[in-house]
Amino acid sequence: MLAIIPLWGIIASMSVLNNGLKFKLIISIGIILLAVAFSYILHFINANLSKSELASKDIFTIKQKLISEFDGAYPEQASPNGTVRTFKMTAAKSKVEIVPGYKTDVWAYNGQVPGPSFRIKLGETFRLEFKNMLDEPTTIHFHGVRVPNAMDGVPGVTQDPIPPGGSFVYEFTPKDPGTYWFHPHVRSFEQVERGLFGTLIVEDDTKELYDKDELWVMDDWRLTSDAQVFPNFMIMPDLMHDGRWGNVITVNGKPKGMIKVKAGERIRMRFVNSSNGRSYKLYFDNLPKENIKAIAVDGMYVKKVFNPNGFELAPGNRLDVDIKIPKNSDGKVFAIVDRFLNQENYLGEIVVDGAVTDDKDRTFPYPINPRIPDWNEAFDLPIDKLYVLDRRMVPRSQAVYKDEISSSNTGGMGMMGGMAVEWTINGKAYPDFDPVSLKFGEFNKIRFKNNSPNYHPMHLHGQFFKLVARNGKKVNEGFFRDTVLVAPKETVDIALVPLDKGRWLSHCHILEHADAGMMTVVEVE
Ligand code: C2O
Ligand code: CU
Repeated sequence: MLAIIPLWGIIASMSVLNNGLKFKLIISIGIILLAVAFSYILHFINANLSKSELASKDIFTIKQKLISEFDGAYPEQASPNGTVRTFKMTAAKSKVEIVPGYKTDVWAYNGQVPGPSFRIKLGETFRLEFKNMLDEPTTIHFHGVRVPNAMDGVPGVTQDPIPPGGSFVYEFTPKDPGTYWFHPHVRSFEQVERGLFGTLIVEDDTKELYDKDELWVMDDWRLTSDAQVFPNFMIMPDLMHDGRWGNVITVNGKPKGMIKVKAGERIRMRFVNSSNGRSYKLYFDNLPKENIKAIAVDGMYVKKVFNPNGFELAPGNRLDVDIKIPKNSDGKVFAIVDRFLNQENYLGEIVVDGAVTDDKDRTFPYPINPRIPDWNEAFDLPIDKLYVLDRRMVPRSQAVYKDEISSSNTGGMGMMGGMAVEWTINGKAYPDFDPVSLKFGEFNKIRFKNNSPNYHPMHLHGQFFKLVARNGKKVNEGFFRDTVLVAPKETVDIALVPLDKGRWLSHCHILEHADAGMMTVVEVE
């Protein structure tokens, strides 16, 4: 039936042509184009209708298939081997040298920024005896680690805040090897920004295969001219936009990252973005792309290695890269840069000094996870849960955060002086939220619909998910994530099968957005 419409357009144009009037010809071509466009639109609407008309028994069948595809992708339970590794850590004020020649006042774990990098083996139990010597309450959240719910470090959801002078023991056995990090979940916009974050690396037996296993924790500081942390937090310009972006980027707490390698070595580099708001797009300039492969995202191995150049590392994300240092590269320097914005940031470099002389076998296969599901049919399924992300202005007295706003912060903001920003999920600003529950072991498709003109790296505690679509276009990334960057006005569909029970926070990892309301709780039962 639809085919008649373009046909009608052609017939109409021919009769006009007989009249020999040129401008009418142009009009008629216009009519044809309109008619074609119209028929396409009808066709599209039709297709969408049939999609939403998917019978519920078909939905059930497809979901059963997707769940069986997921089987074995990662374990439901931890397998403790009996070894308990005990670590001690204190949060307290400290001074560190970030900019050469300056002492910066920070809040730090064990006096260092970044905090400790704890390494344990898969199967070992991690036990952290933690003491809070800050002047305010805190907690620790282990980002990306599938912990028992009570160890998740979320005040008011999984534990009470640890008061100044108080202690808490975090103990769990990680279920998945990989690159994880930890940070407070109380006033994180200030606690993380002032230096409270560290890493937890869960090693597996690929560790010995690599010549080096390097960690780059990337942070973004807003420092004053005397290298102190700019003391005003949650200020209007940051809240209105993409959170607190700084003026000094550090790798492992220094303005430039550097590792020394030998030509011919094979190394693993783990990247962590601990910034409050800044995203990075990594580029390994002048390393041949056959030599650099992304092997893990957000801790989890990928199904198929890929070229890491251009990978978006939003706040919270991790990326592990397998790098084969070229054979004849002695004396070379390979730069690693960020081009998330137009302006390029030099993050650091790999310096090649010498060459391998042994005959160690470095041709081992990439450590991937072939059991990651494709979930191709997920695209056809309807959305189970919708999260609409947005911003609103409210009178300052009603805002979900109040402590950071002083009149000096909003001075000069004119009519906005009496108003504050809230970031909302489905029209609610945390601690107000619509409770959502997901069933253990069921297939769920969730949509993030960003109605705001800003970025939101959305992070789920306790769950890994796969991307299904961006703006209605199918994507198959071939890896799980725990955080996905949702661009301004973008719609992102994800899918997951929850295997970890409990009450889990979901939130934007731009820490200013999170504390201004963009958090919600999901219960897996
Ligand atoms: Cu890094 Cu609530 O997370
Ligand atoms: Cu956000």
